[in-house]
Amino acid sequence: MIIARSASELRGFLDTKTLSVGFVPTMGALHIGHRSLIETARKENDIVVVSIFVNPTQFLAGEDLSKYPRREEADFKICELSGVDILFYPDVSAMYGADEVRITAPDVRGFILEGSSRPGHFDGVLTVVMKLLNIVRPSRAYFGKKDAQQLSLITQMCENFFMNIEIIPMETVRENDGLALSSRNVYLSSSERQEALKLSSALKRATEMLMQGNTKSSEIKASMEHILVPLNVEYVAIVNRKFEALDEIVIGNTIVLVAARVGMTRLIDNVWL
Ligand code: PAJ
Repeated sequence: MIIARSASELRGFLDTKTLSVGFVPTMGALHIGHRSLIETARKENDIVVVSIFVNPTQFLAGEDLSKYPRREEADFKICELSGVDILFYPDVSAMYGADEVRITAPDVRGFILEGSSRPGHFDGVLTVVMKLLNIVRPSRAYFGKKDAQQLSLITQMCENFFMNIEIIPMETVRENDGLALSSRNVYLSSSERQEALKLSSALKRATEMLMQGNTKSSEIKASMEHILVPLNVEYVAIVNRKFEALDEIVIGNTIVLVAARVGMTRLIDNVWL
């Protein structure tokens, strides 16, 4: 495995090749969710590039940038064992200069739900993903449905800017008890981890109600909110794939989302119906 620490170093390794390139951008502290993206990229492309970069511009003041888990040695091993060809591991100065042009998230889709709880977050995500996609120039880039709004906005950015990259959505990987894997799960104490299961339980309840024939968003949301007590819930939402609110679930075009704080840790989860 080659480790590149700057854009020019990375291009040096890729420019001689005309093979398909699969790209998995991450912030490290890799878990099985990340690994499923890497393994799929490995199966579908000649060359696999993974980036590990804790992107400062997507963290708001007071968020966990300084304590975001960093696991350099373990992450390098996981990449190597998963068949990654090139690991892009830049520091902040290799990615950002002073007074730069930035990407801004769209007014509505970028500033509801996660965008409303974390204003400015998606500007940072889109800016860094634009940079990373331009550095790597992949054939395909892999993103998790776990971060549904992020996936949707990145797909939209590629369309809006006529970028010739296939964005591949990947299923959420969960622990056996339903907890969605997240690098932030390491912040949870064992009792908080139990409480965190309320997020996936609430989503399971939404699926069950739908299976029983109830498609009413208001009733489903009320039942989910009941399950989420006493967590500090930021939102429960039922939207279509364009993130427009739905009064009724439409099978094949619905995402049910939840964001809540468990102790100090902010968790998100969703189910695509
Ligand atoms: P990070 O949180 O490290 O996630 C990297 C990728 O892994 C994202 O596409 C995310 O949706 C996916 N992922 C996370 N948990 C998952 C799970 N349980 N199952 C499947 N996929 C999962 O998302 C980011 O980093 C950053 O915002 C980034 C896109 C790298 C830009 O900085």
